Amino acid sequence: MLDEAKNRLITQTGPGTPMGELLRRYWMPIAGASEFDDETKRVKPVRLMGEDLVLYKDLNGTYGLIDRHCCHRRADLSYGFVEECGLRCNYHGWLYDEKGNCLAQPYEDMAHPDARLKDRIKIKAYKVEERAGMLWAYLGPAPAPLVPNWEPFTWKNGFVQIVTAEIPCNWFQCQENSIDPVHFEWMHLNWGMRLHNQLGPYSPRHVKVDFEEFDYGFTYKRIKEDTNDKDPLWTVGRVCLWPNCLFTREHFEWRVPIDDENTFSITWAFNRVPKEREPYVQNRIPTWQGPIKDPKTGRWIDSHVMNQDFIAWVGQGTVADRGKENLAASDKGVALLRRRFFEDLELVAQGKDPKGLVRDPKLNECVELPIAYRGNYVDGLPLAQLVKHPVFSGQLRDYVFQTGQPAEVRRAFVDAMGIDLTGTANADFLSPIQGSQSNRQ
Ligand code: FES
Ligand SMILES: [Fe+2]
Repeated sequence: MLDEAKNRLITQTGPGTPMGELLRRYWMPIAGASEFDDETKRVKPVRLMGEDLVLYKDLNGTYGLIDRHCCHRRADLSYGFVEECGLRCNYHGWLYDEKGNCLAQPYEDMAHPDARLKDRIKIKAYKVEERAGMLWAYLGPAPAPLVPNWEPFTWKNGFVQIVTAEIPCNWFQCQENSIDPVHFEWMHLNWGMRLHNQLGPYSPRHVKVDFEEFDYGFTYKRIKEDTNDKDPLWTVGRVCLWPNCLFTREHFEWRVPIDDENTFSITWAFNRVPKEREPYVQNRIPTWQGPIKDPKTGRWIDSHVMNQDFIAWVGQGTVADRGKENLAASDKGVALLRRRFFEDLELVAQGKDPKGLVRDPKLNECVELPIAYRGNYVDGLPLAQLVKHPVFSGQLRDYVFQTGQPAEVRRAFVDAMGIDLTGTANADFLSPIQGSQSNRQ
């Protein structure tokens, strides 16, 4: 339970708030690079931690992230157009580069070329970097840390897709879900079964959970009635990755604050191609946004793993009232997470680095993480094993995490895998997907 003041402290992320200052020490993934492939769509409005910005890719291929509003008379730069260098306002043509310099003011340059008003104009501008098919933004003080090169970003022979959604609730309740092993049994396995109109049997229950802190977050571990302490889900576990990500071995889910009442969910999902398809090089990492609400019923979509999570998050309220909760033994991880954030807030207030920043380029060649069944991803599996595998067979049939995968992404995936299991085994859809889910987190 948290009182109102503490709840505000962990949930508010606008400029100048303590948590806002903390989160601004980290690079945040804000888009897929492939969203900017279309020459006619090079400009995108972005709201990030309460700041209205515009993300663009100029004709030279340089990304910029600048204030949404022009310094001249505040026109909306998301309607601007890109030039060789920079983004030009569509109202009177002022031109800005990615560092926030004003490069041109067409009428002023004509009427008063010596006044050089543009030299005195600076628009808010933040750093953008591309990594692993995503665009990352840094809104904090210099010197910026490095964009972490997490180990799976270095893997070869994989098909990667980036999947987004906008969730109308505060980011922190989304991240608390990243350290909540028990929900999986109920929200995904048992509820998933009931959604398929089956009454049972319910999933083997959690017997024991545990949590361990490491450099880049916490691992959470579980033993269920059908597993033991030799199982990688206990010996390695899953990762609550600092500060706002869930990492489940080949799958990252970041919860990026749009503002205090909305969260941008962005997933990086890797599927190793069958051994027979190697060497495989992916030419383009697709990005797609999934729907979260059924337009016919107005209810949240409940068919896929993350959609189910979204229902939990929004169900807690726009900003969960932690004064009304009753934490129990299953929430030990949630309590650890909050405590660690409060410690980090102290560190930042003292001018120190918070947890898990990467500043060493040598280390950043590959930042290792705890990964259960690492060999499946590093060495790969032959097709015959993939199609029988409790996790991968389900993933070959469908994108199991979020609804709405576009047909062209499905086609690219099938093409990479060299096999099309789309729509197969519908009759026993539930059992392989259950297997896949129980191994996911
Ligand atoms: S408002 Fe942007 S150039 Fe005038
Ligand atoms: Fe979940």
